[in-house]
Amino acid sequence: MRPDAGAATAVDLEQQARRDLDDAFGDHGAAVTAWAPGRCTLVGDHVDYAAGVVLCVAINLGVAVALRASPDGTYRATSAGEQVARTDPAVIGDMGDRVFAPAIALRRSGIEVPAYEVALAADVPAGAGLASSAAVICAVLVAALRTVRVQLSAHDVIAAALTAERDIVGVPCGSLDQHAVVEAPPGGALLLDCRSDSSTAVPWPWDDVVLCACSTGEQHDVGGVEYRSRRAQTERALRQAGVASAQEITATMIESGGLPALEARRARHVATETARAIQAANALRTGDAELLGRLMTESHQSLRDDQEVSTPALDAVAGAALRVGRCHGARMVGAGFGGTVTALVERDAASECAAAMAMAAGGNARATWVLQPSAGLMSLAADVIGSG
Ligand code: GLA
Repeated sequence: MRPDAGAATAVDLEQQARRDLDDAFGDHGAAVTAWAPGRCTLVGDHVDYAAGVVLCVAINLGVAVALRASPDGTYRATSAGEQVARTDPAVIGDMGDRVFAPAIALRRSGIEVPAYEVALAADVPAGAGLASSAAVICAVLVAALRTVRVQLSAHDVIAAALTAERDIVGVPCGSLDQHAVVEAPPGGALLLDCRSDSSTAVPWPWDDVVLCACSTGEQHDVGGVEYRSRRAQTERALRQAGVASAQEITATMIESGGLPALEARRARHVATETARAIQAANALRTGDAELLGRLMTESHQSLRDDQEVSTPALDAVAGAALRVGRCHGARMVGAGFGGTVTALVERDAASECAAAMAMAAGGNARATWVLQPSAGLMSLAADVIGSG
């Protein structure tokens, strides 16, 4: 039920969530707990909604929930000292939206769950590009399934998480985060083909090469306006090129002048990023850290110049990592417009790299971590998530 890497953290967070639940709402009986990981993309951001390919890991930072049936039919949630309560789980624009949306999503797929009260305890930062939102929804889904003792396939859990996030909460996300949180293999990366919705596990080959991350602390893309616009522009580029997937875009389509300049940049990002993700998986398979690092750095440049989702702070933090000897590559992670930079670095240079990144982020740096590839929920919650 818990990750090997960071197991103490998952256990601690689950215990903290149990305590917070009783402290916030009183002791209404035993709660069920669940922990879900965040994710870190290695190569392949802003391609999932273009049916591209992504290489990512689930990480040893995540979200724990403690959940139990509500004694009076009121939905309640507590997180970081904040509390919300309502009789209807529908979205109203507060912290409870993501916590209660899984109840609606499960009901839509025919699974009745009682009104519940939930405490969240997280060490994955919110709004930092590490999929905290998918982790919250997936952790609540697992705890709710445990409460009603129902098992779903991984495919159905991902579908329910997407219904909760996209249709109920209203975030126009792709499916990367949900796949990573559910399907990531223990101790390895997930190569996700968003056109066929299929994935392959790729083991992490190194003990001495790690992912070192720094959250810049910049304010994220409030309201998701920029993300929405990049998605719309990319979808328009695919339509204008006459294709349905980043995997069908050719160099000629991009360079022939047939696409307007902005759409050509978006098309170039999703096509080259998809090609890099496939190459990056091969770099993992052959243990070529230098190549993986170079692809990560090129990915950052493409996200900066062609998809235009980076910020000066993300560029500065990635640049600072690259100046550290034995750092193989660095890139922003996730939706962009703030968030986290991850560097691929020799383990014995990780502290130096973390310090350099934090220094470049200035007073805003929220935290630095050595991220470890963690198992997804298919392994951690096999009691309620079947394979398939
Ligand atoms: C967010 C979205 C994902 C994906 C990434 C960028 O995390 O939720 O679907 O688009 O941004 O790769």
